[in-house]
Amino acid sequence: MTASALPIAERIGRLGTETAFAVSAEAAAWQAQGHTVYPFHLGDMDLATPENIVEAAFRALRDGKTGYCPNAGIMPLREALADDVGASHGLALGPQNVAIEPGGKPVIGKFILALMDPGCEVLYPSPGYPIYESQIEFHGGVALPYGYVEGEKNFELDFEALEEKVSPRTRLLIFNDLQNPTGAESSPAELERVAVFALRHDLAVLCDEAYWDIRYSGRSHSLASLPGMAARCLILYTFSKKFAMTGWRLGAAVGPAAIVEVIAKLNVNDESCSNHFVQYGALEGLTGDQSGPREIVRVLKERRDACVGLLNQIPGVSCFTPAATFYLFPNFTGLMERKGLATYDELRRAALEETGVSFCTRLHFGRALPGEEERYVRFAYSGIPVPLIEEGLSKLKAWAEV
Ligand SMILES: Cc1ncc(COP(=O)(O)O)c(C=O)c1O
Repeated sequence: MTASALPIAERIGRLGTETAFAVSAEAAAWQAQGHTVYPFHLGDMDLATPENIVEAAFRALRDGKTGYCPNAGIMPLREALADDVGASHGLALGPQNVAIEPGGKPVIGKFILALMDPGCEVLYPSPGYPIYESQIEFHGGVALPYGYVEGEKNFELDFEALEEKVSPRTRLLIFNDLQNPTGAESSPAELERVAVFALRHDLAVLCDEAYWDIRYSGRSHSLASLPGMAARCLILYTFSKKFAMTGWRLGAAVGPAAIVEVIAKLNVNDESCSNHFVQYGALEGLTGDQSGPREIVRVLKERRDACVGLLNQIPGVSCFTPAATFYLFPNFTGLMERKGLATYDELRRAALEETGVSFCTRLHFGRALPGEEERYVRFAYSGIPVPLIEEGLSKLKAWAEV
């Protein structure tokens, strides 16, 4: 077929993407040439969805849950999720506070559509999930990135950047505690500070809590649980990670009923409803036997420990041990200097071609911010078992040592 002469709409020029998919394509091409690849670039999971969830979805299919369902999701799932998030967040929630979505990702764009007028400013993390910037700019907003700095034990919010950038035109704050890609987790004091900031500047907040349940010690805390915050926070919930259901496409928007109502109206216009029978699988996930999600976290913890231990043995690399998420964001500045690699792209290509280790770099999570001098890469361990982690990182170490 010849290329279409039809003009593409102007707004599409403002739509971003996940450039990490290009890394997957490169790794696959390298593998197709007969090389071994160690896939630390993948944000996906190689673990099976727990059997009780699979069974419940099958049952629903056989029971004829194959037609449309309510736009905001089936009532028992909305109720169960309101109970679950209500209990973990110390909030009084009911089904009116929950809209079921085809994944956590759609909550980002719908939150922006519901609460941001064109020309308004939105604070969002960089490095961060690239869809934030894409959706802000696509919908005509002004994207204001804020960063993270290395603290004692993990990354910390760069509060100076937040304070510097906020203005009377700033309407929204996107906040991803238990963060992709850094693994950053706010201390109670930092959360408090963010809450005071949001209240002072009258911001609506998207609390992206995609990794809430992927944690190895301690417990997760939410900005939405702090005094005065529930009324201005919309929580992005996902079934993807906790239940290893990334391809099932199911998540939810949880928050003030008035916003949830708008989001349900957007659902009517976008997809009518989320996949019907899949919601019965998710309901079993929330209310049934919990050994499946416990096993997922156990396996991921073994992988985290293997990765952190080995990365910290590589000369010129230092890596924190996050208590949650399945990402590591090691500092590679020293390694790049040792190997005489000037750019992230050179580093990534050299590591892939000389060791088979494939990963994303800081630049796959937004443009570098002014003054950002240290070099970081992201290692995801959700799609690679421990023996391959050991093999791949031993090769990376041997390569770094030369
Ligand atoms: C920070 C963050 N938010 C949201 C999502 C969306 O996930 P899903 O659409 O599978 O629920 C992801 C997925 O990787 C993520 O990393």
